[in-house]
Amino acid sequence: GPAKRAKRFRYFTYLWRLTYLSAIGGAAYLAYGVWDLRHPDDQFEPDPNKKNLVILGTGWGAVSLLKKLDTENYNVIVISPRNYFLFTPLLPSCTTGTVEHRSIMEPIRSITRHKQAAVKFYEAEATKIDPERKTVLIDDNSDVKGASNKTEVSYDMLVVSVGAENATFGIPGVKEHSCFLKEIGDAQQIRKKIMDCVETATFKDQSPEEVERLLHMVVVGGGPTGVEFAGELQDFFDQDIKKWVPEISDKFKVTLIEALPNVLPMFSKQLIDYTESTFKEEKITIKTKTAVKKVTDKTVEAEATGPDGKKTTEVMPYGLLVWATGNAVRPVVKDLMSQIPAQKDSRRGLAVNEYLVVQGTKDIWATGDCAVAGYAPTAQVASQEGAFLARLFNTMAKSEAIENQIHELSSSLNLKPGDSASVSKEIEAHEKQLRRIKDIKPFHYTHQGSLAYIGSERAVADVSWLNGNFATGGGLTYLFWRSAYLSMCFSTRNRVLVVLDWLKSKAFGRDVSRE
Ligand code: FAD
Ligand code: NAI
Repeated sequence: GPAKRAKRFRYFTYLWRLTYLSAIGGAAYLAYGVWDLRHPDDQFEPDPNKKNLVILGTGWGAVSLLKKLDTENYNVIVISPRNYFLFTPLLPSCTTGTVEHRSIMEPIRSITRHKQAAVKFYEAEATKIDPERKTVLIDDNSDVKGASNKTEVSYDMLVVSVGAENATFGIPGVKEHSCFLKEIGDAQQIRKKIMDCVETATFKDQSPEEVERLLHMVVVGGGPTGVEFAGELQDFFDQDIKKWVPEISDKFKVTLIEALPNVLPMFSKQLIDYTESTFKEEKITIKTKTAVKKVTDKTVEAEATGPDGKKTTEVMPYGLLVWATGNAVRPVVKDLMSQIPAQKDSRRGLAVNEYLVVQGTKDIWATGDCAVAGYAPTAQVASQEGAFLARLFNTMAKSEAIENQIHELSSSLNLKPGDSASVSKEIEAHEKQLRRIKDIKPFHYTHQGSLAYIGSERAVADVSWLNGNFATGGGLTYLFWRSAYLSMCFSTRNRVLVVLDWLKSKAFGRDVSRE
């Protein structure tokens, strides 16, 4: 009847208003984010008598520390050869242009400029840490060098957050001939090389064997980096390259080589199977139980173990080789470890205690891939460690201030004997506050789950939720993957840029020009 219709109409009006209001709210939030980014407040210089807190690196560990740190308590100095933060989870998407590289970079200057008290940044590599003299040797290794390009920085407190380098296990030819996938430059090099291989394969009079070699894309390492890259690459081919260069459509081939019996060892069995069957559909060849032993400019030599345990050597010609076999310790970290007897037995990085203090030192902390705290080398771990250190340092500064107050009050106790009762009370209150503040719990990692993109708009996720775990794979997971990454992207600017890139590559396809 009409009453029902009126009710329905009212209901729709409410819904419409709600949508309308949330759209306005969203737009206002976005506009404020943009405005705030462009208009940082004036900063003040911290008191020069405060302690020097030196942070090495501008990656996940260092930046999450910096974001949560009250910089007025210390003289903060950040040192890194890279003047930006890199959102690594979307780096595989940059190799094919699904996302443009600048969209996942966040200038460190914007991060430091938004702090309340000024922070110094030096674009340089730390080459040596001297724990005795409490100094760091730094070296400007960029193209433009000034008269001052190598110097020393003193610290009272040091945070080592330099990450890791690419493992090659000393396998001959890897460094010379393969591309890695860790930095922006790596992704750009891969993007360029994919199209170079395609154009060279279609060059006049290219022999069939040479065409086959040039279009064979080999990925070594079945960890998440290798898997995500292989997925992105196959997408690029299926959705774009094939369309513009149809004559190679049956010749482009992606092979993923893994030494262990399966890919993605950190995911659950069900998701490993899902990934392997998706790769089969996508026509990506997975070669497990196959360890690469040697690389030349045109071939990969691997040792495959058959089901009967027999070993055979396989030589695979390739056009593009991407090497993703995990992490190795950086030289500056190795050198520091060699100076500390307590680090003698540590192999994979700086062994730290439950407060992330480097074992065998007093004023050095480490986070992320260069620290060994018993967790996987992931962004999730590094960012939680960085946030923990920020809380720790903020608290240390606070308790130091209270200690000073107590000290002052205690000395006034002798001067004004008449007030002693009230002063004692005050001291007691301060001591109580101090005890509460000083009771800092050790670092505790909360695993939120693992998430990986596997190509053809599918993702796999092992998520810890409400104390339970669930494993999911597929198209919905892919949407979840995208929104999860968007919410993790650092600034409003990055979020907007990444969404625009996704829309752009969806509407126009990825760009196949070789830059
Ligand atoms: P990094 O982020 O690597 O930062 C190290 C910093 O130190 C850099 O700024 C570097 O320039 C600087 N530096 C290097 N040498 C020196 C020196 N000598 N002196 C001073 N500074 C130096 N993890 C996840 O949890 N989820 C993901 O989806 C995910 N995806 C990834 C995808 C790819 C392609 C890769 C390569 C990694 C991915 N990871 C992911 C892992 C994650 O990126 C790392 O675990 C994380 O970056 C570690 O943080 P970090 O701060 O220790 O090191
Ligand atoms: P990884 O260490 O996870 O995997 C490397 C793989 O290479 C291993 O499975 C190893 O068996 C294999 N390998 C080593 N030598 C080999 C050889 N000679 N021949 C063939 N295979 C060989 O490395 P990856 O993928 O770079 O990841 C590094 C870290 O970053 C991990 O902790 C990972 O969890 C994290 N990460 C997380 C992502 C995500 O959550 N989506 C994405 C990328 C990285």
